[in-house]
Amino acid sequence: TKNGNSTSKRTVLAEPRGFCAGVVRAIAMVERALEIHGPPVYVRKEIVHNQHVVAGLRRRGARFVDSESDVPEGAVCVFSAHGVSPLVRDNAAARGLRVIDATCPLVSRVHRHARRGARNGRLVLLVGHAGHEETQGTRGEAPDRTIVIETVADVDRLDLPADTPVTYLTQTTLSVDETAEVIERIRARFTDVAAPGTDTICYASQNRQNGIKSLARRCELILVVGARNSSNSLRMVDVAREAGARAHLVPDVTEFDEAWLRGVSSVGVSSGASVPDILVERLVDRLVRLGYGDISTDVTSVEDVDFAMPSFLAAGTGRTG
Ligand code: F3S
Repeated sequence: TKNGNSTSKRTVLAEPRGFCAGVVRAIAMVERALEIHGPPVYVRKEIVHNQHVVAGLRRRGARFVDSESDVPEGAVCVFSAHGVSPLVRDNAAARGLRVIDATCPLVSRVHRHARRGARNGRLVLLVGHAGHEETQGTRGEAPDRTIVIETVADVDRLDLPADTPVTYLTQTTLSVDETAEVIERIRARFTDVAAPGTDTICYASQNRQNGIKSLARRCELILVVGARNSSNSLRMVDVAREAGARAHLVPDVTEFDEAWLRGVSSVGVSSGASVPDILVERLVDRLVRLGYGDISTDVTSVEDVDFAMPSFLAAGTGRTG
């Protein structure tokens, strides 16, 4: 152990952590768009919720805008991994934008479920955070037939007959346990419930949350590297606290507070699905310097998911659809 000190304190790294397949694909699509078209390539919203990733792409010529209306007519515009509503697609088409859609395939799947539910005359109960881009995009598939549900109390407040035909869907990055409670309440409240199975939380969010639960059994303190607007990272902190650990979100090492380590002999570290591992490495370096040099890895699942880019980008023909 470090400095021959056998009482060295421990750092436990969760595996898997960091980038999911949807984030890898979205970043690669912006990079390919820059190669094919040259800068500037416009990106609607943060491509993924991480400022480090955004800054890196900006240096290479990506221009991040808040709305498709901010993109010059005819320019190349990438939609972020969180997805967009049909209204945004229409606006982009009306402006003649050359759209590259980096929506995660698992988000697109939720959109398909929403369309199907509405087409079948059902009310869509969308379990998610109202302000989040993904929820706004999914809701846009059937805005008149969708209600966003954040909590169990929101279900109780619904002023609808019990036999209203409903279908529920969940944002991909929610807490598995909290979502299960809300779904249970929906099933108790309504008699005609159609659903795509259980929830539509994605594999990456589930795996990272399972990893946190495992860390919470071994460590007194859990640090989750992730941005303040990253839903899946915030849920990881919730899960850690729920499991009885002390936990903090660490957007980057400059926001790490040494006072958190007081009385702590083992620190668990993980990161959200939009976090480059360099940010985790910097935090671990700091922990090692502070005496937490006994590093181990806690593997809770093996991820081999890979999402292909659309062929027109992979082949580099420059055609956009
Ligand atoms: Fe997709 Fe889940 Fe990542 S929805 S972008 S795989 S966090």
